Amino acid sequence: MTSWLLAFNDLHYTYPGGRGPVLRGVTFGIPEGKKCVLLGRNGCGKSTLFLHGNGIIQPQTGQVSWRGKPFVYKRSALQEMTQRVGLVFQDPEHQLIASTVSEDISYGLCNRNLPPEVIRAKVENILDVFGMRELADVPIHHLSLGQKRRLALAGVMVLEPQLLLLDEPTAYLDRYQTKNLLRELDQIHRSGTTVLMATHDMDIAFEWAEWICVMDAGKLVFAGEPQEALSKREMLESLHLGMPLIAEVWEALPESLKQEVGGGIPRSVDELKKRLSGQLVSSR
Ligand SMILES: Nc1ncnc2c1ncn2[C@@H]1O[C@H](COP(=O)(O)OP(=O)(O)OP(=O)(O)O)[C@@H](O)[C@H]1O
Ligand SMILES: [Mg+2]
Repeated sequence: MTSWLLAFNDLHYTYPGGRGPVLRGVTFGIPEGKKCVLLGRNGCGKSTLFLHGNGIIQPQTGQVSWRGKPFVYKRSALQEMTQRVGLVFQDPEHQLIASTVSEDISYGLCNRNLPPEVIRAKVENILDVFGMRELADVPIHHLSLGQKRRLALAGVMVLEPQLLLLDEPTAYLDRYQTKNLLRELDQIHRSGTTVLMATHDMDIAFEWAEWICVMDAGKLVFAGEPQEALSKREMLESLHLGMPLIAEVWEALPESLKQEVGGGIPRSVDELKKRLSGQLVSSR
């Protein structure tokens, strides 16, 4: 049986003064140790769900649990949850509060009453890990949007969460920074952190994820392996998410070549290249 690190059970939520329910009975679990992606069209409730993931929002009905234990909405228990679950907001302006880069990174550590020398060492280390040492004393309002997003991630990772929730982390990043970020996320995952990323980028989702969840209108409509998700073209298209580009390329190949290469839709250009070159070698 899969062990869920964080699980949402039949969550319902309507914002005060909102136009109607945003979460309408969403139920799903985040499998421990996996790189997970959450897909869903604009406004389906992804960011609202994330805010439930570390207790910032309390569900009106339903339950959120950590390793099978329901959240307790009391100050000390919630503080513990924010240590376990790191949330990187969709908009970094909502996350960054101090005046300089290093002050912002140290903010969460200061709240934990750690000795100053421990805080200093952790901040120095994370500045190196994220390649931000030269920006240490730069005022936050001098950073580009991409740099602010990077800083928001650094400020969460310095707290060493067990689960990282990333809300559309590649939005506004250029190709180079997107690749860098994905490499960093792989490193974060290898070091033992479970990651759940909300994204609209189907190419990134299918190349990167080991587990795919799809939401629509405040409910979960799919959770499973990427290969299984790729076989649900009709569902992905009906939700206006579409298919990753690689699936369209695969679709365009002659049937005879697909049969020779074998397997289902490849998840990345690299996988397609490998399979094609394997096929070419074996047919020589
Ligand atoms: N603070 C708020 N008050 C009232 N309604 C809100 C608030 N925040 C979000 N909503 C509404 O809740 C719904 C879901 O929003 P949410 O941001 O969770 O969606 P999302 O799936 O993250 O969308 P996107 O892909 O655009 O980021 C939307 O209809 C939105 O207008
Ligand atoms: Mg959102």
